[in-house]
Amino acid sequence: MTVKKQVLESAAYVRSRLAAAPEIGIVLGSGLGPLAEDITDAVCIPYGEIPHFRTSTAPDHAGRLVCGTLANRQVICMQGRLHGYEGYAPQEIAYPVYVMQALGVRALVLTNASGGINTGFSVGDFMLIEDHINLTGKSPLTGANDSALGTRFPDMTFAYAPDLREAAQQAAQACGLTLRRGVYCGVNGPQFETPAEIRAFRALGADAVGMSTVFEVIAAAHCGLPVAAVAMITNMAAGVLMQPLSGAEVNEIAARRGADFRRLITALVQKI
Ligand code: HPA
Repeated sequence: MTVKKQVLESAAYVRSRLAAAPEIGIVLGSGLGPLAEDITDAVCIPYGEIPHFRTSTAPDHAGRLVCGTLANRQVICMQGRLHGYEGYAPQEIAYPVYVMQALGVRALVLTNASGGINTGFSVGDFMLIEDHINLTGKSPLTGANDSALGTRFPDMTFAYAPDLREAAQQAAQACGLTLRRGVYCGVNGPQFETPAEIRAFRALGADAVGMSTVFEVIAAAHCGLPVAAVAMITNMAAGVLMQPLSGAEVNEIAARRGADFRRLITALVQKI
């Protein structure tokens, strides 16, 4: 069966469970899952119920779609995403993006927890991702191209859509929140980086680092879906503060800044 056919089967199942067609897709990163609680009239669909979907094993990733209304928009929200460090192939991680596109969403809002590389950033800052450096060495588009999904050599110049970036800036302003901007460096993990790696990523032009997002953005570019992506800086990256990093710290900051993050993403969704 072609990937496109699988995508259509997944989308048909999700559509059969929903009263209204989703307009905007949202992916919630580590510790950011509670945003889904703001979705009203929610229909929750565990990934395991959807044909061809993989389930998420990461801690604090619920592994379900939450579909309903947020800021007067119909949204389809992934509460829990898949990561390469769980053992998933890039194609598996990217798969839900194609399903959301097949369901008719006109924009994809990606969120994640990141380590701050830019020394001008502070823990708890929000960063609009303007571009990325994919240092995973992998792509979800490796292998035969399914031309029903997209072109063989997709352009990445405007993968982070300029009009959605502008909308995010306006949303932050409306919320009275500072939104930093920068380049996200995507790595495999699960180990945090070494201080030498962080110095190297900074020299390459990265402002933040994380273990997600890049495959989803590549898939979105492939199928022509505009992306807005916002990172929460949950810790300064290795060596910046010369103190050890921990996953617990990531979740603690994500919880502490969660309310502002929810306001920002909701305001962004309203502007799309
Ligand atoms: N490195 C990689 N991924 C991360 C980090 C980090 O410092 N913080 C949150 N996700």
